[in-house]
Amino acid sequence: MSTNAFLNPVTTQTWTNGRHLVRCVKVIQETWDVRTFCFMADQPVLFFFKPGQFVTLELEIDGQPVMRSYTISSSPSVPYSFSITIKRVPGGKVSNWLHDNLKEGDELPVHGPVGLFNAIDFPSDKVLYLSGGVGITPVMSMARWFYDTNANVDMVFVHSARSPKDIIYQRELEHMAARINNFSLHVICEKHGLGEAWAGYRGYLNKPMLELIAPDFLEREIFCCGPTPYMAAVRKLLEAAGYDMQRYHEEAFGPTPPEIRAEVKELAAEAADAPELPLAELNQVEFISTGKSIRVAPGETVHAAAAKLGLHIPKACGMGICGTCKVMKTSGEVEMEHNGGITDEDVAEGYILSCCSVPKGDVAIDF
Ligand SMILES: Cc1cc2nc3c(=O)[nH]c(=O)nc-3n(C[C@H](O)[C@H](O)[C@H](O)COP(=O)(O)OP(=O)(O)OC[C@H]3O[C@@H](n4cnc5c(N)ncnc54)[C@H](O)[C@@H]3O)c2cc1C
Ligand code: FES
Repeated sequence: MSTNAFLNPVTTQTWTNGRHLVRCVKVIQETWDVRTFCFMADQPVLFFFKPGQFVTLELEIDGQPVMRSYTISSSPSVPYSFSITIKRVPGGKVSNWLHDNLKEGDELPVHGPVGLFNAIDFPSDKVLYLSGGVGITPVMSMARWFYDTNANVDMVFVHSARSPKDIIYQRELEHMAARINNFSLHVICEKHGLGEAWAGYRGYLNKPMLELIAPDFLEREIFCCGPTPYMAAVRKLLEAAGYDMQRYHEEAFGPTPPEIRAEVKELAAEAADAPELPLAELNQVEFISTGKSIRVAPGETVHAAAAKLGLHIPKACGMGICGTCKVMKTSGEVEMEHNGGITDEDVAEGYILSCCSVPKGDVAIDF
């Protein structure tokens, strides 16, 4: 039976942060190496989230569990489904697997939605969206949300693409810009191929270009997402221009951590090479459910300690954003440098993000 037969906007339940089974209902080829995957739940769910937030997919590839985070590119204004938009990363395990394998009808668990980089927690009536490549996904969700809800938000949307054939959502963005006055679109192409027409901005975003595009950029709340060098260049440009960086928000998709096996091997090799530290300087990390424990050098994370023991704590972003590696700490203290991947309530209950938590002494973990 089609899911549509169940839809009832009055009784439908809403999405809450957690693990949910969803079904792929549509695959859209956006550009030659970017696809959008749309998902619904079998029991209808209204997928409410803060535009800009992301989910973490739980997959099994070649018999190995693997998790990766992807921003929700759709808007909660179209809540019966949600979408993620994925670019193939050359040599990348999960992005290519999803492009090659994930099809309509397939089911998979997702975790989320989570994320501090969102349009709701930083409200503003004048925004500047800066994106590079597939970093367009969170700002597209924000723009779609404000467009669909007729919000009184003045949006300047600046997207940098490698070449015209790489512009994601091009027709939809042009459609939005043509229909409302408060959405101004500017696309910058690094280069263009033989026979490809391009009359827009060329090269990289720079200060003269930004001043031309958004002369009032100093007054705008800025949301930026893209490759690491792109975001570093944007930050440098804004700081030099005297922009109030309190109003600058960015999301890093980040390097994906190496697979756990490689990590175990590397860490074992590192451990073998490392100079012996006096026992008193090592911290004991005990994993109580599995009954294993190890002494680690100062600065090593709880996750790295687990990996050395061959214990696979799920991990996706590796930088305290996604919450995938959350575990309960039953005793001891850690220094946790997260990026919004855990709530204050969870911290109060004793949870930590193992990828970015460094023991301050002996600790015990429920794993
Ligand atoms: C919060 C968040 C949101 C995100 N949102 C999006 C999104 O909306 N869209 C999107 O497309 N991505 C998004 N990402 C990135 C995504 O999670 C993945 O990192 C990305 O798809 C690459 O994963 P992969 O498994 O294909 O690549 P991986 O297999 O993890 O490889 C990543 C890179 O490492 C290289 N590599 C892999 N193995 C080796 C090796 N053994 N030696 C040397 N190099 C190696 C690969 O060639 C590749 O360049 C997001 C990430 C985060 C944290
Ligand atoms: S793996 Fe994402 S928070 Fe640790």
